[in-house]
Amino acid sequence: MANKQFDVIVIGGGPGGYIAAIRAAQLGFNVACVDEWKNAKGGPALGGTCTNIGCIPSKALLQSSEHFEHAGKHFADHGIKVEGLGLDIDKMLGRKDAVVKQNNDGITYLFKKNKITFFHGRAAFAKASGAGYELKVTGAAEESIEGKHIIVATGSNPRALPGADFDEENILSNDGALRIPSVPKKLALIGSGVIGLEMGSVWRRLGSEVTVLEALPTFLGAVDEQIAKEAHKAFVKQGLKIELGVKVGEVKSGKKGVTVAWTNAKGEAQTLEVDKLIVSIGRVPNTIGLNPEAVGLKLDERGAIVVDDECRTSLPNVWAIGDVVRGPMLAHKAEEEGVAVAERIAGQHGHVNFNTIPWVIYTSPEIAWVGQTEQQLKAEGRAYKAGTFPFLANGRARALGDTTGMVKFLADAASDEILGVHIVGPMASELISEAVVAMEFKASAEDIARICHAHPSLSEATKEAALAVDKRTLNF
Ligand code: NAI
Repeated sequence: MANKQFDVIVIGGGPGGYIAAIRAAQLGFNVACVDEWKNAKGGPALGGTCTNIGCIPSKALLQSSEHFEHAGKHFADHGIKVEGLGLDIDKMLGRKDAVVKQNNDGITYLFKKNKITFFHGRAAFAKASGAGYELKVTGAAEESIEGKHIIVATGSNPRALPGADFDEENILSNDGALRIPSVPKKLALIGSGVIGLEMGSVWRRLGSEVTVLEALPTFLGAVDEQIAKEAHKAFVKQGLKIELGVKVGEVKSGKKGVTVAWTNAKGEAQTLEVDKLIVSIGRVPNTIGLNPEAVGLKLDERGAIVVDDECRTSLPNVWAIGDVVRGPMLAHKAEEEGVAVAERIAGQHGHVNFNTIPWVIYTSPEIAWVGQTEQQLKAEGRAYKAGTFPFLANGRARALGDTTGMVKFLADAASDEILGVHIVGPMASELISEAVVAMEFKASAEDIARICHAHPSLSEATKEAALAVDKRTLNF
């Protein structure tokens, strides 16, 4: 029999797992969480990919690199003279690591506050047991533990390009891309998705010559076409080289850097010699070492754990959430699933609305959206009305000196219900939440148009885009 018994054991301490553990503890369960992530000293580093090598450190570096770019290129517009501008990359990376540690420590504190038992190690299914499931924990903590309910939140790993394995020296995943020790003169990225654009932006701002090689012929295919076009224009103007419709061939890594053979959209053979290569072609669900076979837990052909709409797996009382299951690989989607599962275990009716999950790409300009794109509505044959408002006509954006982009509303032609909101521009990541709230409440575009928005604020562009649906903008 297992030494220690719990009502709920969460495997994985990323945003899905740690939030599930907290919510389950709030609901009165005796909860354990197992996570193996180690910090530089070998101690625990709760928060998973998001906190350690994803969302949080990338935002820290995006902020630092944006300050650098502003100081070098835009302060003069404000009448601020900068002399002797320089870069201390060690300090910049050190600050990023300190931000990560604050977040790690914050989760450790939250576990103590909520009386969650933490095991620092890797959990594997051992067997089904009388009360539930027995797990074997190996690593810093060596234990056999038993849980009535198991929540698997083991996340994902970067997808490697065949023939170009990650060495995190020359060929980098999101992990290595966040700790390049000196600014590479030339940098290539394969994949112009979220990671490619965010990391490409960081290193371009710090001085790298950046080329992005994308297999698809369209730029940001999942984004509303009009918004993607505007973003593409802005990135190219900033100096990012984006090659679409490419076929990547042989990748050779040596002492001097990396050589990438590729074919452009016209079918012409090309070679790129760079100091570093970042491969950002998506992620794969992580079940390494979980031993799902021991209990007969079903995976699909992609290696994701099979779940229903409510995160129930093929086994009773085993749940799975976040990147290891279907759906977008987003921290906030995992969190919502974690809360909903904890509530379902408690007999409540947790719910996740997949139609109102916001997406954000933290480039400059930022890109954010919720709901359907114009191309999706066209493909569905749905009758809709569109309204856009440019930041160029927004007073706050002018004062900020950041007038790139627009807000775009898509509403049902008959009922005026908001079907999608798409933003490219300053603080799109913050502005999108108004649209999410509106869509959750099934608001119409007119509802937003009739709400008082503070002046001067970027959010007025949201109100104006809602007015534009009815062709009655006031400031444009
Ligand atoms: P992604 O799915 O966003 O983009 C991958 C890109 O690589 C696609 O455009 C795809 O067409 C391209 N690609 C695939 N194979 C290729 C090949 N052989 N040659 C050239 N191009 C190829 O994946 P990414 O950027 O790696 O991010 C992984 C996950 O992490 C995503 O699901 C994303 O949602 C999440 N993430 C979210 C962030 C955010 O919310 N801000 C930030 C970073 C990552």
